[in-house]
Amino acid sequence: MNKIKGTQDFIDLQLFNFIIDKARQQCEQYNFSEIATPILEPTELFKRSLGTETDVVSKEMYTVNTGPDGDNICLRPEATASTIRAFIENSIQHTPWKVFSWGAMFRHERPQKGRYRQFHQFNLEVIGSNAIAEDALCIKMLDSLFSDSFGLSEYALIINFLGTPEERHAYVVILDKYLDGVIDKACKTCAVRKVSNILRVFDCKNETCQSLYKKAPKIIDHLTESAEEWQQLQEQLTLLSVSYTIDPKLVRGLDYYSKTVFEFVSSNLGSQNAFCGGGRYNNLVKTIGGKEDQPSIGASIGIERLMMVLEPIKDKLALPQPAALTILIPLAVEQQTLALLIAQNLHTHKLSCDILFEGSVKSMMRKANKMGATYTVLLGSDEQVTRTATVKNMITGTEEKMDQTKLAQYLKKV
Ligand code: HAM
Repeated sequence: MNKIKGTQDFIDLQLFNFIIDKARQQCEQYNFSEIATPILEPTELFKRSLGTETDVVSKEMYTVNTGPDGDNICLRPEATASTIRAFIENSIQHTPWKVFSWGAMFRHERPQKGRYRQFHQFNLEVIGSNAIAEDALCIKMLDSLFSDSFGLSEYALIINFLGTPEERHAYVVILDKYLDGVIDKACKTCAVRKVSNILRVFDCKNETCQSLYKKAPKIIDHLTESAEEWQQLQEQLTLLSVSYTIDPKLVRGLDYYSKTVFEFVSSNLGSQNAFCGGGRYNNLVKTIGGKEDQPSIGASIGIERLMMVLEPIKDKLALPQPAALTILIPLAVEQQTLALLIAQNLHTHKLSCDILFEGSVKSMMRKANKMGATYTVLLGSDEQVTRTATVKNMITGTEEKMDQTKLAQYLKKV
């Protein structure tokens, strides 16, 4: 049996857990608290929030077939809609509600480098704050996580500003007029998008299409009521020493965004170059069924993609080192019970220890060495009778015999 296409086995979780731990620390320092929401959600939640015309909803949903109502349940493709659902369902009253969560997401995309069907996100949201300065704070928090906690230098932050729905409606008319003049030279997908979800034409990877849109009107040049906020965001980011590039073509693939949108990208990732994406969404609470709208901002880090970016600099990261390991080697079946009792004692002293029960002494010693043991403890008939243990330092090769009662203290000291 093989794993499902687009999924991964994690045999070594050291880097994965390091990312979660550092992101969690950063979030807690910025006053976010951790939540967890189900992997199974109503399909309708994502239809309403992400938009039925988005790729995620129209092509990539994993619906769970559980009988006549099966199509109503799906594996979550992202966590923002779930967080908003939890906000409404749990009648959260204190805002801004600053929360983070992490876990597996599912999208039926064509698998390729950095693109999986089951992948993991670290997700953070600030629900119930209209202040654009909150966007600056959120972006700063992520930027300092990437540069300070992970020591990344080769990445870029791309930002854009999509304005209010009213500003967007006015801009869409202007964009539509511009596209009328070039759309016959564009690809079929863009022709469809021009009608169904016009801003998404900018997402097209086709070079001809991209060259057609080079001179397209930019939304940031057509802002009215939110122009000041856009200005403020740029000034605050500069003041906080966050470097960024403005990309007027950054529209993001989900329908819920308004005003700020951003992505952290790395050229080491190939075509799937974003390892974190987010933005402001001011109308999602009402869209999902809440009474009052709660302006919000958030982002998700793609953990697999961040791992790919960190892999080459892994040696420079302060990855947690496993505790010194002691391996007990009972020389015969008769000493196995003694080994169990000694291990129990070492474990109550919070020491890391394991027992090898099978093989010749030579092969067990070799195995202990491979396992990275700092000490081995040999238990033969002589040690059993005299209530002693022979402790071997696996680095220096020296051996010492001591009372079994002194073993835990000795190993703790060294
Ligand atoms: P998103 O851009 O769809 O945004 O995903 C965020 C990140 O998840 C991407 O930048 C990427 O690193 C990772 N990602 C997405 N799809 C895949 C995939 N198929 N394989 C591997 N990694 C992937 C969201 O999901 C929004 N909920 C972000 C957000 C939070 N906006 C506001 N709050």
